[in-house]
Amino acid sequence: MNGGPFVILKDVAKRWNGQLGVEDISLEIEEGSFVALLGPSGCGKSTSLRLLAGLEIPDEGQILIDSRDVTTSAASDRNLSMVFQSYALFPHLSVAENVIFGLKVRRVPKAERAEKMKRALEITGLTGLESRKPGELSGGQRQRVALARAIVAGQRLCLMDEPLSNLDAKLRNSVRKDIKKLQRDLGITVVYVTHDQTEAMSMADKIVLMKDGRIQQVGTPDDLYNRPANTFVAEFVGAPPMALIQSSVLAGFDKDLTLGVRAEHATIVEKGKGQLTCTVSEAEFLGSETLIGLSHEGTTGLSVLQPGLSLMDEGVTVDIAFDTAKLHKFNQEGDRITGM
Ligand SMILES: Nc1ncnc2c1ncn2[C@@H]1O[C@H](COP(=O)(O)OP(=O)(O)O)[C@@H](O)[C@H]1O
Ligand SMILES: [Mg+2]
Repeated sequence: MNGGPFVILKDVAKRWNGQLGVEDISLEIEEGSFVALLGPSGCGKSTSLRLLAGLEIPDEGQILIDSRDVTTSAASDRNLSMVFQSYALFPHLSVAENVIFGLKVRRVPKAERAEKMKRALEITGLTGLESRKPGELSGGQRQRVALARAIVAGQRLCLMDEPLSNLDAKLRNSVRKDIKKLQRDLGITVVYVTHDQTEAMSMADKIVLMKDGRIQQVGTPDDLYNRPANTFVAEFVGAPPMALIQSSVLAGFDKDLTLGVRAEHATIVEKGKGQLTCTVSEAEFLGSETLIGLSHEGTTGLSVLQPGLSLMDEGVTVDIAFDTAKLHKFNQEGDRITGM
């Protein structure tokens, strides 16, 4: 260990017959951290992960793992484990056989295999299911087998590509917590691909938000939510997404800006006391609060949160006030303006 970043990608690019996969990917990952690659489908998350894994070789740039240049190294020579969306289990092998498959291939002695497997099954809550076949397990259990297999590999770096997307919402939530706890307990470095911003926000120390093969912002969940680098990040992160308002529709903002506002910083006020008169477009009861969708020319995604059940009729007009100190400012290119 030299104290520097554990994983480094420098100006990495990958194309297929001239078609862009990823470009200008520069990233540093600290050992023991949980990094999420986040973005819409097709933005280059899997390509980035596959480049890191050695399943693809970059056209440009450099990849270092643990101070070693692995840019063109084989996947088997990179000392990492992988977990995929599809589990990739052998259907004819038992849970136990699936978990230790890699150790057998590497001719790890039998006693050591048994010890490692016991520990991995304990950690993933699979003890007692050793002799079951994958077909006799639930989706969540299957994904735990894939996790156990990654754990017994004993690598310090684990790459995961949408490992929860085949699970239902409730299970996703609990396996999400399991993965996070595992990563912390084992102190391993995880690079985790997801298109689900809630997953990234709740699990990651650092999020890499991508679009069209390029990185848009690298930061903590707090950075992305509270200091989005551009309007794409603003609209991708958070539920509901940040609303965008052309400054021309608001009095007092004479510059040609795009203003961003989160639902929690906008409120319905008495008629005549707001900054904008909007039309109610929908009301969505969420349980503890109701999300009121609003429309106004020159705005997108405007909404407010009302406590409890607060159904409002579509087409009704309401006055909205903004917490002006909390407004985000973006220039005409959509980039965040700081220091205003
Ligand atoms: N093997 C491949 N051949 C050609 N194009 C590819 C290949 N793999 C990925 N791509 C392209 O690279 C882009 C990024 O894909 P991918 O990394 O899979 O996105 P994501 O995982 O974010 O959904 C897409 O336009 C995709 O079509
Ligand atoms: Mg993908």
